[in-house]
Amino acid sequence: MQRELAATARPLAAARTLPRRVYTDAEVFALESRVLFGRMWLCVGREEDLPEVGSFLTQEIGGEKILVVRGEDRALRAFFNVCRHRGARLVEEPCGRLRGAIGCPYHAWTYALDGRLLCAPRAAPGFRTEDYPLAQARLEALGGFVFVNLDANAPALGAALADLPDLARYQLAELRRVRAIEYAVAANWKVVAENYSECYHCPLVHPQLHRISDVTSGFAQAGACFNGGPMRLRAGFTTMSMSGTTAFPPLPGLTAEDHRLVHYYLVYPNLMLGLHPQYVLVHRAWPLAPDRTRVVCEWLVPQATLSADGFDPSDVVEFWDVTNRQDWALCERVQRGAASAGYVPGPYHPAELCVHAFDKWYADSIAPVLAPTS
Ligand code: FES
Ligand SMILES: [Fe+2]
Repeated sequence: MQRELAATARPLAAARTLPRRVYTDAEVFALESRVLFGRMWLCVGREEDLPEVGSFLTQEIGGEKILVVRGEDRALRAFFNVCRHRGARLVEEPCGRLRGAIGCPYHAWTYALDGRLLCAPRAAPGFRTEDYPLAQARLEALGGFVFVNLDANAPALGAALADLPDLARYQLAELRRVRAIEYAVAANWKVVAENYSECYHCPLVHPQLHRISDVTSGFAQAGACFNGGPMRLRAGFTTMSMSGTTAFPPLPGLTAEDHRLVHYYLVYPNLMLGLHPQYVLVHRAWPLAPDRTRVVCEWLVPQATLSADGFDPSDVVEFWDVTNRQDWALCERVQRGAASAGYVPGPYHPAELCVHAFDKWYADSIAPVLAPTS
């Protein structure tokens, strides 16, 4: 496989797509879980998901189920969701609110919301609760997104995302969720990421998108942590919706040029940002198995848009729900084909510059940790 990954890492015109094993093999999946998802900054949600003291969410990352909690001091913290006594999983629910403390359901060890052990019932004399706090993972928030990193030695989030284009004018921290839809996709997470990274498929697969947007523009930028770029709206259309227009006002702070563009970015490994003139669309792809991915799609708008009289997001939500389903069907088709013994890595089209950038990033990340004989 080293030879095939080296072929992916060549310049685009001479490169070949990734080998079959990276889409199908349980060992490769476990390796990715350890060296990519176990070491990178991953977006687990939005700050608005954790509004109150005690609000929590859990997320499976790199084989770990992480617990994110808002403390009494209103700070967010991420913990390994494991009791310091005999290791019971502390919280199973995906989200909710803890009343004042984190209680282990096994022997009732009780932790403060900041992870300190408060009490261990009938502990032996001399037992020191301060010796058994919950193990913490790194957590940082950026633009209202909550990121977690399991690697204590990872660079800070800002350094990891240093070359991402400046998105400050979108005021992402001010946005609020309108809708979230979860999809179960029977395809490898990289197939989903690759599909997000090109619009070569758009004329055939997405007639509603092709009508509104010039699919030959865009997907021309790639950096160390991302790929993507702006795509232009066709004349006569102001947004990506079933009608091609919307009653939502433009996001405050955008330039006249931004009003004609949709910026698409895949932030490695699994966060996809669609920055539209009036709203932001977010996809996160969570690997479940070599051939299964959970995709969470969210629509965000400013609070003022959300609270306006007659606010109705259905035109925009339907557009992307239709587009998402068209994409997942194709991703599942790729998964079935790429799993075949007849699959041989193929060439990239010039419009797939960003697919190649993602695959090259992947090949460069995974090749050094594969056994040399793989
Ligand atoms: S395993 Fe948690 S209290 Fe015993
Ligand atoms: Fe698509």
